[in-house]
Amino acid sequence: MNLVFLGPPGAGKGTQASKVSENRGLPHISTGDILREAVAEETPLGVKAKAFMDSGSLVPDDLVVSIVAERLERADCADGFVLDGFPRTIAQAEALDATLEGMGRSLDGVLYFKVDDDQVVRRLSGRRICRDCGENYHVDFMPPQTPGVCDKCGGELYQREDDKAGTVRERLKVYYAQTADLVDYYRERGLLVDVDASLVPSAVREEVAASVGALEGKED
Ligand code: AP5
Repeated sequence: MNLVFLGPPGAGKGTQASKVSENRGLPHISTGDILREAVAEETPLGVKAKAFMDSGSLVPDDLVVSIVAERLERADCADGFVLDGFPRTIAQAEALDATLEGMGRSLDGVLYFKVDDDQVVRRLSGRRICRDCGENYHVDFMPPQTPGVCDKCGGELYQREDDKAGTVRERLKVYYAQTADLVDYYRERGLLVDVDASLVPSAVREEVAASVGALEGKED
């Protein structure tokens, strides 16, 4: 299953991608996570990406496209992958098509997480992430048992720099200006599957599982 999870920031793509990855043994490839790791390690890529990310802009296409192309070549992608946060521009989508074609593969489906802007702002402003294991929480919607402490590993929870109010609004603007056109791009190619991402996490999980199951049925 070669899948893309598409949608605005905070729609729940990462939350659901990690479930699908766990349940189906597919690698969860989040360009945001890869870039944040590069920033934390101050690699050449991270140094270039940091200012774009902190301001809520997109990192230039050429940097991101080459990371993904290399990642998809790895052995763990042989049976499929879940791409989360990539592609984010038409140029990235075309580059992904070309990369997959070069590998004799193609996408099976693009799950489009639909949610309105008010929910995006509420979700992102309440998101907390474990510094040690990366587990994702929300102070109201998916709270940890002890505030500020990860249920899984006891690590400290923190708020992402780009989840502060001003940057969230900029990320939404960037989404509408540069990413939203991908909905039509994939709908025209018959790949788009709508997901009502405004529901509670367990209901979204069921919808996602059913959609992925239906795509698998088509593949057989
Ligand atoms: P990235 O990390 O990809 O951020 P994003 O797309 O903005 O996505 P998020 O991680 O914010 O949201 P999500 O949809 O995964 O939601 P989540 O599941 O966490 O990108 C960050 C930056 O990196 C970009 O701004 C850019 O600079 C750069 N970048 C990355 N990819 C790039 C690319 N391809 N090209 C160029 N630049 C790139 O959920 C959010 C919160 O809501 C959590 O707290 C969660 O617990 C909660 N939640 C989840 N589901 C629900 C629900 N159903 N109900 C209630 N709460 C929920």
